Amino acid sequence: MTSVRSSSVIAIINQKGGVGKTTTAVNLATAIAAIGRKVLVVDMDPQGNATTGFGMPKGKKLNSSYGVLLGLSDAADVIRETIVDGLFLIPSTIDLSAAEVELFSLQDRDCKLKQALSNLHYDYIFIDCPPGFGFININALNAANKIIIPLQCEFYALEGLAQLFNTIQGVRNSINKNLLISGIVLTMYDRRNNMSSVIANDVRTHFKHLVFDTVIPRNVRISEASSYGKPILLHDIKSIGAIAHIELAREFLNREGLNDK
Ligand SMILES: Nc1ncnc2c1ncn2[C@@H]1O[C@H](COP(=O)(O)OP(=O)(O)OP(=O)(O)O)[C@@H](O)[C@H]1O
Ligand SMILES: [Mg+2]
Repeated sequence: MTSVRSSSVIAIINQKGGVGKTTTAVNLATAIAAIGRKVLVVDMDPQGNATTGFGMPKGKKLNSSYGVLLGLSDAADVIRETIVDGLFLIPSTIDLSAAEVELFSLQDRDCKLKQALSNLHYDYIFIDCPPGFGFININALNAANKIIIPLQCEFYALEGLAQLFNTIQGVRNSINKNLLISGIVLTMYDRRNNMSSVIANDVRTHFKHLVFDTVIPRNVRISEASSYGKPILLHDIKSIGAIAHIELAREFLNREGLNDK
C-alpha cells in the first residue's frame, strides 16, 4: 500500500557567514539524490551560491526563489532540473535581497515560504539559508520540519550559537512548535590544526548526541568543485570531501529513520 507523505523540509542554517551552509546543502542533497531519493534544493540566499554550485545560472526575478517567496510565482513553475539525477533546484537571484524589506509590510510574512512549498512532493527539500536573522530565515524555519546547523571548526565556532538556539526556540513557541534539530555538523575540520580537535571536543561535550558523528574535513577539492559549478561527488568522488558527505547522508538518513519511529 502506498501513502502520500508530505516532503521532509530541512533548513540548513547558521547566522554566521561562511561556515559551510551552502556546501552542506549542495553536497548532502547530492549524496541523498545519488541513492535514489527525489530531492529539491531551495536557494534562499541572494548570493545564489547554491545555484552556481550546481552550475546553474541565477534566476530572473519571477523565475526564482524571490517570486516563490513573495507568492508571485508557483514553485512548480520555477523548479529546474540540475546536473544531478533526481535533484531539482529553485534558483536564487540578487533581487531576493529586496524581499527582506518587501516581506515586512505583509501580514502573513512569516508563512510565505511554507505556503509556497506545501504542495510539492519530494522525499527531501533542503533550504540553503542566508546568513543573519532576517525574515527569509524566519520563513525557512517556519517552512522546515528540521534543521541542520553547520558549525565551522574554528575558534569562534560557539559564539552566536546561543542566539541561534534562542531564535529556534522563539519559532517553536510561536509559529512552528514541531521544529526539530536533525543535527549539528562540524565542517572544515583540519586534522593538522590542534584547534579543530579542541573545538570539536568542546562542541560534542556541549551538544552531545545532537552532533553528527561524521565530520566534514577541510578539503581543497570541495572549494574547487564549487568554483567549477559541481557538487563534490561529481567533481571527485574519491576525495575525502566526497566520502565525508556520503557518510553524512547515510547518518542523516539513519537519524530520519529513528525520528520517524
Ligand atoms: N570542507 C571544506 N573544505 C574546504 N573548503 C570549504 C569547505 N566547506 C566550505 N568551504 C569553502 O568555504 C567557503 C564558505 O563555504 P560556504 O559557502 O558553504 O559557507 P556558507 O555558510 O554557505 O556561507 P554564506 O554565509 O556566505 O552563505 C566557500 O568558498 C567553500 O567553497
Ligand atoms: Mg551560503
